[in-house]
Amino acid sequence: MSGPAPEIALLGVRILPECVPPSEQAALVADLRAVARAAPFVQPVTPGGRRMRVRMTSAGRFGWVTDTRGYRYEPQHPAGTPWPPIPPRLLRLWAEVTGLAREPDCCLVNYYDASARMGLHQDRDEADFGWPVVSLSLGDDALFRVGGTRRSDPTRSVWLRSGDVAVLAGAARLAFHGIDRLRPGSSSLLPQGGRINVTLRVAG
Ligand code: SIN
Ligand code: FE2
Repeated sequence: MSGPAPEIALLGVRILPECVPPSEQAALVADLRAVARAAPFVQPVTPGGRRMRVRMTSAGRFGWVTDTRGYRYEPQHPAGTPWPPIPPRLLRLWAEVTGLAREPDCCLVNYYDASARMGLHQDRDEADFGWPVVSLSLGDDALFRVGGTRRSDPTRSVWLRSGDVAVLAGAARLAFHGIDRLRPGSSSLLPQGGRINVTLRVAG
């Protein structure tokens, strides 16, 4: 019997390989399909007016949005409808990983197609950086780059695989991070291919 792979730390970011087993991954994908039916994916623009490569939606009290007015949390989808509730399975994952009684109030769902990437950035639109950010990968492998709290700090990279969880907390809460590229076809979890990343946060 081999248990889950051991936890690793990448410049202070905790990586929990194989944190979510394959059967649970499939159930999570079904949960996220229901989220996307209630709150369809959008391909937003950055404050600078550039169309993002990644498609996004959210669940929870707040959703993370971007447009030419800036990056922020909003209580409604851009279409004017409330965000659906965070799937209970994801709330359980947050509780297991963080040990916190407080629940996240935002679940950002990012969809990457084969050529999507995400530039190096900090997660800094939340009211209190004392709360962790928990990030789950589903689908194709993705090359995750982590740096320090300054953009110019040296970076290290690791391939995140389906079921892996990354935790940005403590000194690494404001670490720069991004996705350089996917390994298309590396997972069969999503019939259409690509990758879903879910981040759970306390935004408000
Ligand atoms: C993000 O930083 O919002 C996404 C990170 C990832 O896709 O793993
Ligand atoms: Fe991020």
